Amino acid sequence: MLKELVKACKPLPPKSKLLILGGGFSGQHIAALARGLGTEVLCSRRKADASGADIVFDSGLNLLPANEEINDVTHLLSCIPPEKNGKDPVLELLLDQIKNMPLKWVGYLSTTGVYGDFKGGWVTESNTPKPQQPRSQRRLACEKAWEASGLPLQILRLPGIYGPGRSALESLKAGKVRMIEKPNQVFSRVHIDDIAGAAIHLINLAEKGEKPSIINISDDLPIENTEVLRYAGKLLDIKLPPNESFDLISNQLSPMALSFWQESRRVSNDLLCKQLGYKLIQPNYKLGLNDCLIQYQLRMNC
Ligand SMILES: NC(=O)c1ccc[n+]([C@@H]2O[C@H](COP(=O)([O-])OP(=O)(O)OC[C@H]3O[C@@H](n4cnc5c(N)ncnc54)[C@H](OP(=O)(O)O)[C@@H]3O)[C@@H](O)[C@H]2O)c1
Repeated sequence: MLKELVKACKPLPPKSKLLILGGGFSGQHIAALARGLGTEVLCSRRKADASGADIVFDSGLNLLPANEEINDVTHLLSCIPPEKNGKDPVLELLLDQIKNMPLKWVGYLSTTGVYGDFKGGWVTESNTPKPQQPRSQRRLACEKAWEASGLPLQILRLPGIYGPGRSALESLKAGKVRMIEKPNQVFSRVHIDDIAGAAIHLINLAEKGEKPSIINISDDLPIENTEVLRYAGKLLDIKLPPNESFDLISNQLSPMALSFWQESRRVSNDLLCKQLGYKLIQPNYKLGLNDCLIQYQLRMNC
């Protein structure tokens, strides 16, 4: 809940101005938190009439913000994925403008897919990325391009993102889920409250000079997807479809769906939570889904 999230976080330094490039699911939530903490925020979307669009940036149509709109930004967070050709849309088109800003911190939302397969083992920031999927290879190339930009960069690596409006609850209600079981297959996840809370925490730490270059933001409990669906089914009182063995149905999955089952890893948050002192708002999928349900019920009662 935004009110509680705001209470749990410290305001950004006075006179900060945050630019969020890509005000989608995560971007809008981070913007809402930063605004709730009293910071001036600008969010980009590809269409001027999209909800929460303060400025327009669309690399595909070459629509760029004007210098006057962004030249006094102090903190920048890119939430925009790589182009199909592997290039980073922001660096390709906005780097000159960005270099003219009085930037104290630049964040780049990346994915834990860059680590590749750990066969269910734990992975930390010190593990060398070995991306297997082409999309993860493109992502690692973008991370490297951001690192080479010379900006005051911090890379935030995220596992599966969920939150109110985009969770196992919605998938179940839409009748879209399958209870697929594959031995030793776990997924890590993060609730958007913690993407937002951790981003603010990291900006404040960077202000004090503590800024590791790469941070995983994930919850405490990597787990099988079927466990998450079972809990969502209980919350909604919806009967789940029967369990299916991955080996028997893998030939029915799309290449994209299949790619998620080819890697298994437990993403460690020790650096963020133990060393950098961030306290998770939604430490596991049960608490996170409880929050999603409350927010869904609130929306329904409006
Ligand atoms: N979803 C996951 O589970 C997951 C997991 C790990 C990492 N990530 C990565 O984390 C980041 C945030 O994820 P999210 O789920 O919050 O993303 P999202 O909701 O899909 O938002 C992506 C944002 O990027 C903008 N965008 C996309 N292509 C663009 C382009 N060519 N030019 C300008 N803007 C463009 C979109 O514009 P519009 O607002 O106009 O659509 C949107 O605001 C993304 O990079 C994503 O790939 C996602």
